[in-house]
Amino acid sequence: MTQPKGYVNSEYLQVVGAFVKHLKQRSYALMQIQPGQKVLDVGCGPGTDTIPLATLIGQTGQVFGVDYDQAMVDEAEQRASKAQVADWVKHQCADSTSLPFDDNTFDACRSERVFQHLSEPERALSQMMRVTKTGGWIVVLDTDWGSLSVDTTEGDIERRLARVHAERGIQNGYSGRQLYRLFKQQGLTDVTVEVHPLLVTDYTFARQSALPDETERIALATGTVTAEELQCWRTSLEQSDSIGAFYSSVNQVIVAGRKP
Ligand SMILES: C[S@@+](CC[C@H](N)C(=O)[O-])C[C@H]1O[C@@H](n2cnc3c(N)ncnc32)[C@H](O)[C@@H]1O
Repeated sequence: MTQPKGYVNSEYLQVVGAFVKHLKQRSYALMQIQPGQKVLDVGCGPGTDTIPLATLIGQTGQVFGVDYDQAMVDEAEQRASKAQVADWVKHQCADSTSLPFDDNTFDACRSERVFQHLSEPERALSQMMRVTKTGGWIVVLDTDWGSLSVDTTEGDIERRLARVHAERGIQNGYSGRQLYRLFKQQGLTDVTVEVHPLLVTDYTFARQSALPDETERIALATGTVTAEELQCWRTSLEQSDSIGAFYSSVNQVIVAGRKP
């Protein structure tokens, strides 16, 4: 399959998963998980969350994960077998905008860092609402790439690159800040919103996660920065890194609400 903008592989998701473990735990708490429930993770990747959810819910419950990438689904199924939870966790290939489940199937539903890849996030949310039971919790966690900030002596270049990343590097880069409005517009009740800053001081990890080469390539190709400016930017970051002082941050937003 053609890899979409911002495609990431399962090894990368494992590293990021460990880094944002506290946010994952928070999202499970907001789902108000109880043993024996039936829950869904939309855009489940390699089972990063379906397997911990299976442990929380226990054998009397059921966990479903969907992802439109068959390789992710295969990896998730393998991991579930290895974790000995495969009897009550199932993964399947499906698009978030067309969920293959009956109405009112799940007690709770979540999606993490998926809406930023969607051109029509409102369709995914309305599908999540359709398959969730009345009163069930829906929790969506996503990045606000517009909040990316990097300490550099090249402040103007940093702003231009951050904007390219949010607007061209990612399909729906402002997704995080839009979730609260999306939930309200779709009529969810008891809606709450939380913002969690993620601090990254490891330059290598920041280049993988928030400052990818692809963003710089797009910025260069579109004339947003010149080759000389790009060189100054990289030199500035490498200088910070050389004295152990690299700093970047970006906000993660978690919104929870109940199906009316
Ligand atoms: C950044 S990863 C997050 C994976 C997982 N939620 C996690 O927290 O580790 C985004 C995932 O969304 C999936 N995805 C992107 N667009 C999708 C769509 N329209 N329908 C279903 N899955 C989608 C990707 O294949 C990928 O596995």
